[in-house]
Amino acid sequence: MDRNFALEFIRVSEAAALASARLMGRGDEKAADAAAVTAMRKAFDKINFRGTVRIGEGERDEAPMLYIGEQVGNGQGPALDLAIDPLEGTTITAKGGPNALAVIAIAEDGNFLHAPDCYMEKIATGPEARGAIRLDAPVAENLHAIARAKGCDIRDLTVVILDRPRHETLINQVRDAGARIWMIGDGDVQAAIACAMPGTGVDVLMGIGGAPEGVIAAAALRCIGGDFQGRLVFTSPAQQQRAVSMGISNPQKIFAIDELARGNVMFCATGVTDGALLKGVKFRGGGATTHSLVMRSATGTMRFVEAFHNFTIKSFT
Ligand code: FBP
Repeated sequence: MDRNFALEFIRVSEAAALASARLMGRGDEKAADAAAVTAMRKAFDKINFRGTVRIGEGERDEAPMLYIGEQVGNGQGPALDLAIDPLEGTTITAKGGPNALAVIAIAEDGNFLHAPDCYMEKIATGPEARGAIRLDAPVAENLHAIARAKGCDIRDLTVVILDRPRHETLINQVRDAGARIWMIGDGDVQAAIACAMPGTGVDVLMGIGGAPEGVIAAAALRCIGGDFQGRLVFTSPAQQQRAVSMGISNPQKIFAIDELARGNVMFCATGVTDGALLKGVKFRGGGATTHSLVMRSATGTMRFVEAFHNFTIKSFT
């Protein structure tokens, strides 16, 4: 995958972040998401590539744009697959909370798991503990293995968990093992990436979140050298059937990181609201500043890009 795409795709996540950040705190999740989707789609179509949305806003009939299977790009250049979340943290943005992102993962044709819009049980960690985690191992065993790999005491580990009633048992198991917990309201993509970033103070993500977000997080962690495992969780037989029809022959399988995102992958994110990973959009007279991250699995290089957008010359809407 051409490395020059990195800057092209940053423009796309910037456009989505700028558009949705304008709606921060306005209590309208749908409007914030729609603004991100429209801006992202428009920005994709300026790029010389033939993109297919593999992980997107949902099925064609429920998502008017950036639906699974939609073609984006200007129709020339290489065929690439996209796993996107134009606004990861719709509720966060509607409330003006922390850690909302616009995210895009890119892979060569056929390299993302075609995950349906269901849940996924996840475990994610950074490069030091790569190979030390097993989704089906007891919680305490995983935490001991991570602490050993990181050369720290289990009491020094911070586990990120989505604050949901479904995680009551998990939370008790982590507490019994002696680790610390950071409960988040939403946004487990940034949480998974934070586990692999020095200085964020987070070591492992555990629990059940969205499956599309799982594929995106796996792509990001492939670029950083972290680790991720996931298993689909279905809330109805129809969901499981949908997974099978999307080509997942064993819906109970535990997917390793490189089964979720294979081959060369690229990942771009722009902060919408301030977070552990990226600063959010800052508007000021005549423009706004964005903070983005772009990385590639081929080199492991992480670029943090701060950009000022001058609205007096180029409007973003
Ligand atoms: P949205 O941006 O689509 O609202 O997703 C936010 C999120 O918190 C994800 O980060 C997470 O994977 C998922 O929702 C968890 O789903 P639920 O809110 O149903 O527990």
